[in-house]
Amino acid sequence: MTLEEARKKIIFALDVHGLDDIDRWAGVLAGKVGMFKVGKELFTSCGPAAVKAVQRHGGQVFLDLKYHDIPNTVASAMFVAARLGIQLVNLHALGGAEMMERAVAAVHGGFSDAERPRLLAVTILTSSTAHTLQQVGIDYSVQDMVVRLARLAKESGMDGVVASPQEIGLIREACGPDFLIVTPGVRPSFAALDDQKRVMTPCEAVTSGADYLVIGRPIAKAVDPVLAAESIAAEIAEGTP
Ligand code: C5P
Repeated sequence: MTLEEARKKIIFALDVHGLDDIDRWAGVLAGKVGMFKVGKELFTSCGPAAVKAVQRHGGQVFLDLKYHDIPNTVASAMFVAARLGIQLVNLHALGGAEMMERAVAAVHGGFSDAERPRLLAVTILTSSTAHTLQQVGIDYSVQDMVVRLARLAKESGMDGVVASPQEIGLIREACGPDFLIVTPGVRPSFAALDDQKRVMTPCEAVTSGADYLVIGRPIAKAVDPVLAAESIAAEIAEGTP
């Protein structure tokens, strides 16, 4: 894989809460990574201005708001999210087939295929364990639930899922080659584990079939973040055909 292709696979997690922080990060990392993730902390703090700030630096946006509500509300939220000109947006598959189908219909009905964001489903949060599921009355294993929800997302017209590295293979097998897989929980060989428990290197994740990698602290906390981003891209480029 070329270095440019490898850079495009990296989504930098903007886990910050100020517009100044966005300018600082997007200013140095635009062109070095493929996309920026705007999540709940940043969006709650700055709103759509956060998305616009990334876009002013030429950056693409993954809006990670993980919608989960009644179908009508999620469909409307997805539609206005798509109007922001973002590239990826997500919801919780646990909201069910009707919620996902309505979201897909709202976005497909309002935007051309070229301009619309790709719609992702979160299956089971990477922080959840079998115990977490049992506490809310789910007796299936995490893996069974992940595959079940990924299939449901695909059948509902979603473009892909967010999943931990360990689940990439199972999801590829269940949902086929065109289904997008976005993976947090990767750690380059040079980085600390932080609170990530089940990790793979970026290269292993891409080789296993991940389309995009969400990476925060290994870049943000590095002494030289630009060098860290470039090293990750180089690791991916060198380790993949
Ligand atoms: O750990 P890191 O800083 O690379 O996390 C980047 C992003 O990945 C976070 O914004 C979070 O949304 C996501 N994440 C996750 N599961 C974890 C840890 C982080 O999905 N266990």
